[in-house]
Amino acid sequence: MKERNPSGESPEKKAAGIAAADLVKDGMVVGLGTGSTTAYTIAELGRRVAKGLDIIAVVTSYQSEMLAIDAGITLTSLAEYPELDIAIDGADQIDAALNVIKGGGAAHTREKVVSRSAERFVIVADESKSSEQLNHYVPLEVLPYAKELVLKQVRMIGGDPVLRLASRKDGPVISDNGNFIIDASFGVIENPVVMSALLSQVAGIVEHGIFTNVDEAYIGKKDGSVEILRS
Ligand code: 5RP
Repeated sequence: MKERNPSGESPEKKAAGIAAADLVKDGMVVGLGTGSTTAYTIAELGRRVAKGLDIIAVVTSYQSEMLAIDAGITLTSLAEYPELDIAIDGADQIDAALNVIKGGGAAHTREKVVSRSAERFVIVADESKSSEQLNHYVPLEVLPYAKELVLKQVRMIGGDPVLRLASRKDGPVISDNGNFIIDASFGVIENPVVMSALLSQVAGIVEHGIFTNVDEAYIGKKDGSVEILRS
């Protein structure tokens, strides 16, 4: 499994992350995603706030909370603002129909809540994330109490589930919500909508990482350009 490198510079991620900041206008309530690509968006929004952009934001993780505070972005909550104008977030894989797999940073539960609360949901990603069909493992946030039952049910629907282990802590990754993460491989996912519905029926899964509600994707290329795809 590929190591995450949130501090590594990526011109492609930077181009996509900064380009999407153009979508954010005065007066908007903005959902801030998690990950290294969204970090560029958050930093860019911070620069624009310093120059007078008037926004408030809802975060999806402790990571985006810390980045937004550092960037000087005023934060609010879904309790105060249940309807967001836009949410901008990263992806682990994106297919030709703009179905997405998320959760590489174990933040997909809050990311899904924020994306579903937003009028417009925009993905920012580098071109390595594009794939004709989804075949990336699907992150599942799981109640620790239900781990064995989830492993059994995921195998029954054809998955190969693995408990995600922490790298600088002994034992499992614990999500921002206090849960385990199970990464489940299914090979090529022929129908992401059907797989999403199947996983939603598994008792003990709090949320899975398949997103079928993307409006637009900003894909950063090696030459510094950004391709904008719409669903
Ligand atoms: C976190 C996510 C991230 O948005 C996804 O893993 C992409 O991360 P990055 O922009 O660092 O490649 O879903 O749970």
